[in-house]
Amino acid sequence: MSRAGGSARVQVEGVHKSFDLDGRSTPALLDVSLEIHAGELLCLLGPSGCGKSTLLNIVAGFLPPTRGRVLVGGAPVTGPGPERGVVFQEYVLFPWLTVAQNVEFGPRLMGKPAAGCREITARYLEMVGLTAHASKFPAQLSGGMKQRVAIARALANDPAIVLMDEPFGALDAQTREVMQEELSRIQRVEHKTIVFVTHSIREAVYLADRVVVMTSAPGRIKEIFTIKLPEPRDRFAPEFTQYEREITRLVKEEVMKVHE
Ligand SMILES: Nc1ncnc2c1ncn2[C@@H]1O[C@H](COP(=O)(O)OP(=O)(O)OP(=O)(O)O)[C@@H](O)[C@H]1O
Ligand SMILES: [Mg+2]
Repeated sequence: MSRAGGSARVQVEGVHKSFDLDGRSTPALLDVSLEIHAGELLCLLGPSGCGKSTLLNIVAGFLPPTRGRVLVGGAPVTGPGPERGVVFQEYVLFPWLTVAQNVEFGPRLMGKPAAGCREITARYLEMVGLTAHASKFPAQLSGGMKQRVAIARALANDPAIVLMDEPFGALDAQTREVMQEELSRIQRVEHKTIVFVTHSIREAVYLADRVVVMTSAPGRIKEIFTIKLPEPRDRFAPEFTQYEREITRLVKEEVMKVHE
């Protein structure tokens, strides 16, 4: 199968975003500049309301920045595009389609021949461990299974970039760890550029090549950590705990500011 999508670099250049609240312009993001390397999994962490989803939505092309710009693979973002896949916390699946039909939807829409669509669907259903559930409907699945379908569906379009906004936020702790392990394994095969928003510091340290800690609102970049741990990562390793401790301290500093 061709792997046309590959991965791509994302450049966020001097992005500001303000929203109008009761006629007043309120800043949500202040001068965010960030380069996300091709094939990198980057986690965004920060207090609630600091602008993580806003930044992700700007990269996705769902929201325009007030100032600044985003480049994907060197080209300015002017709206959503097929090279950017998104996975949200709520499982946005088509309830009237089966698991396989949900995954096949994108490739079909792009006009891929039926045999190619079936091959892609089989590949990604296997990757997320849902081959045996291909003909079920979303309502018949658990939360973890639905989110696996959402991931398979995003990957089936062969995007260069996958934008994930708290994709495991609604899952129980055990399912969440299993999903993290699966995503990490998939990423070691697919090497997509992934921007992953989370509130969980453990999740970020487990998954990320780099972790970006944002300040409390309006969001700026506070610090960037490179996680130099071998994969698959050992959540109980002392080095893992050390990263967790350092990042927790920084995030807490910002969360405390919100409550001052
Ligand atoms: N469409 C919108 N219109 C007006 N204000 C908005 C809009 N979207 C976001 N905001 C505001 O921008 C700020 C950042 O919101 P955003 O959802 O990006 O935060 P977040 O970091 O994702 O928070 P959380 O961790 O709770 O998901 C908040 O003050 C929010 O109220
Ligand atoms: Mg959010």
